[in-house]
Formats: sequence, structure tokens, C-alpha cells
Amino acid sequence: MSDPRQRTAEAAGRTPSGKFVYVAAAFAALGGLLFGYDTGVISGALIFIQKTFALSTFHQELVVSVVLVGACAGALSGGRLADRFGRRGMLIFTAVTFIAGALICAMSTNVTMLIAGRAIVGLGIGFASSTVPLYISEVSPAGARGWQVSLFQFAITVGILAAYLVDYAFAGSGNWRWMLGLAVVPGAALGLGMLALPESPRWHAQRGDARKAREVLVKVRGTDNVDAELRDIETTLTQSRERGRISDLWRPEVRMAMVIGIGLAIFQQVTGINTVIYYAPKIIQSAGISSASGAILATAGIGLVNVVMTIVSMWLIDRVGRRPLLLVGIAGMIVSLGVLGYAFYAPTHGGSFAAVAVVTLMCYVAMFAISLGPIFWLLIAEIYPLKIRGSAEGVAAGANWAANFVVSLTFLTLVETVGASWSFWLYAALAVAAWVFSFILVPETKGRTLEEIEASWRTNKSVA
Ligand code: BGC
Repeated sequence: MSDPRQRTAEAAGRTPSGKFVYVAAAFAALGGLLFGYDTGVISGALIFIQKTFALSTFHQELVVSVVLVGACAGALSGGRLADRFGRRGMLIFTAVTFIAGALICAMSTNVTMLIAGRAIVGLGIGFASSTVPLYISEVSPAGARGWQVSLFQFAITVGILAAYLVDYAFAGSGNWRWMLGLAVVPGAALGLGMLALPESPRWHAQRGDARKAREVLVKVRGTDNVDAELRDIETTLTQSRERGRISDLWRPEVRMAMVIGIGLAIFQQVTGINTVIYYAPKIIQSAGISSASGAILATAGIGLVNVVMTIVSMWLIDRVGRRPLLLVGIAGMIVSLGVLGYAFYAPTHGGSFAAVAVVTLMCYVAMFAISLGPIFWLLIAEIYPLKIRGSAEGVAAGANWAANFVVSLTFLTLVETVGASWSFWLYAALAVAAWVFSFILVPETKGRTLEEIEASWRTNKSVA
């Protein structure tokens, strides 16, 4: 007879999940849209804000980077709050935070108010980054969890592209208040959507409310046949040695999962993605496309590649699995970064050189979009035990924001000091380290229930 866990996993994978789960995943993913929009919009808005408030360089840096600091704090606290008050409650609070931040920014009368608004927006982004993947992973059936959680990354890329386009649309009038204020719309949609959606069934079970857990499972699976899944969740909870405390994050059976989450968080950033996302027009101009509109167009092209390749990744992720995509994608990033460094090394700039640089940037983003982009957010929603899932995921997301902050702050200085070539080669070397790290440590989670993944850490078996 086959292992009962195996049978449950298969059942969960095949569960004809009701349409409801799509709605739940899509609304929660709006948190990703706000994440992408609010991190992307500032590049185009800054020149106009600078004119309104006559900002010093220091204040400009603060307006940009305070979001990342807020996001780091939001991720760390948001995960813990989601364990305590529930995923749904936390997502409603996230929507309120986004709306408040966007309104304060749009209506700010001085730079202090603007910086405060941006810090609040940052908190919202942090809350979203620790809670959205968590919520989706807990309502999705095992066989579709990969692409449904990746909706979060998809929404991030759509948000970034939307920000580029909105910046472009308002560039003529220079109306930065609209650029920042428009985030209220997806914020309101997230809040209203979550008010109508249920709490995560796994969170109810963890609070000891089996009746509510069952109710939600019936609703999101679209069938009464949920007893096996519920039993699995409850068995896992009784076997779990964690008690939901912060100190549990470093228990021996959780430690490896923490190392993987934090490691991937750092590698996702130190391989340079946001130097491209935040500074693409600058990189493209330095490659020889001097017209501003040409640079903006090429940037929008990169944004589009990011969206399209994320869709490709979502199509593949539950079919070929996380590991193959991750390893192939990072390998592609290494090659692209190597070529990019070489392109900037070549003595003559302009013409075909600029074309090579833009195409290579696109390949690099494409490779990120099928690997480290979605898979980092997916894995940190899959690999932690239920009792500490929110807090653990918050730590990984917080590490991601801290690394993002360091890279964003140092990129321009790095290029000034060692030149563009060596900067991209440095990111290539770090991508080699990311590949080795992933090859050795990252488990395959495709098609397994969250409960099976949790059990495999406890029994000390590899999940791969
Ligand atoms: C990263 C962001 C990045 C985005 C680009 C996300 O997975 O966490 O830092 O800007 O991907 O698509």
C-alpha cells in the first residue's frame, strides 16, 4: 500500500479547486501590484518633486530609500502580526496602510510630510511582501500552488510596468502628486477584496478552530471532500514541536529552512536585479542611447520582458518544478551579466554597442523572471512550519529588503569607483555563488502539500 501522506498529497494536487481560490489569489496578489508600483514610480516622479520642494541630494536619497527601510520593518513585523491576527486581517491592514501612505504623499505640503508618507508606503510594501505569498500558499491546492503564489511576482512586474507608463503619461504635466496618489485605486481594491474573502484555513486550524478551517476549505476547494486535507493539517500541528515563539526560528529542525530563505533573499538582491529595475534609463543612456524618450522606451521594453517571462515561469513552475527553473535561470543570469560587463568594457560606445547592451539587459531580466524572482517568494511561503510560518517568512522578506537597500544605495558609487564592467562582473560572481547555494541546498517542493514539506524537515529527510 502506498504511503497515506503520498495519497493525500496526490488528492490535494488533483483537487478540483473551486473558482473561489482563483479570486482569493488574484485579490491578494494586488498587494504585489502595489509593491511593484510604489517601488517603480519614484524614478520618474523624483525630478518633478525635486522642483516643487527644491530637494537637496540628501533629501532626494531619503525620499527614495525610506521606502526600503519601511519595507524592511514592515516585512519583519508583518509576518509576526499575520501569525497573531491572521493573514486576512493583516492584508486588510496592509490595504489601509497603502491608502494612507499614498494620500499623504499626494497631498504633502513639505518634504517632511512626503518622507513620512513614503515611509508609510514602505511599511505597506513590507506587510504585503510577508503576508501575500503566505496567504496564497495556504489557500492553494498543492498542484497549483506554484503558479498561484507566483501571481504575487507577476503582479509586482505588472506594477513596475504600470509605474513606468504612468510616469511617462504624467511626464508632460510633471504632476507627481497623481503619480504617487494613483496607488489608492489598487489599495482600495485590495482592501475591499479581502473584506469579502475568507481567512486562511491553515491559520484557523493553527488557532484550534477546526470548524472554521473546514468551512473555508469547503469554500475554496469547491467540494465537501476536504477531510483528508484537514486531517493532514491537524496531524502536522500535533507533531510540530514549535510553539510559535521567535526563539523557535532557530530550532535545529527549522534552522536549515531559515538559512535557505535568508540566503535566497540576499542572493535575489545582490545579483543586481534592482540596479536594472531602478536605474535602467541611466544604464541605457550610458550605453549610448542618448535621447530620453529612447531610454524610456527601452526601459518599458525591459518592463514588458519582465512581465511576459514571469507568465512563462508560472506556466512551467508546477510542471518542471522549482529547482530546474531556478538553476537554469541563474545560469542565464550569470552569462548575461558576463556579457553585459564585457559590452561596457569594449572601447567604443554607441550604435551596435547600445543594442547589445539593451538586448543583454533584457536577457538578464528574462532569466531573473523565470528563477530568482518568483521562486524566492514562493519558497519562503512553502518551507516553514505552520506554527511559525508568518514570522519566519517575515525574517526572509526583511532580509530581502535590507539587501535591496544596500545594493540600491551602493550601485552608483560602485560604478563610479570600479566602472560598469567590474560592477556587473561582481554581480555575476555573486550569481555563481547563488547557483552553487541553490544547487546544494534548495529543496524541490513541487506537488507536495505544505504538511509533507514540513514533515520532511522534521524527519530530517531531504525535501529534494
Ligand atoms: C524583487 C524586487 C524586484 C522585482 C523585479 C522581485 O521579486 O523582490 O526587488 O524589483 O522582483 O521584478
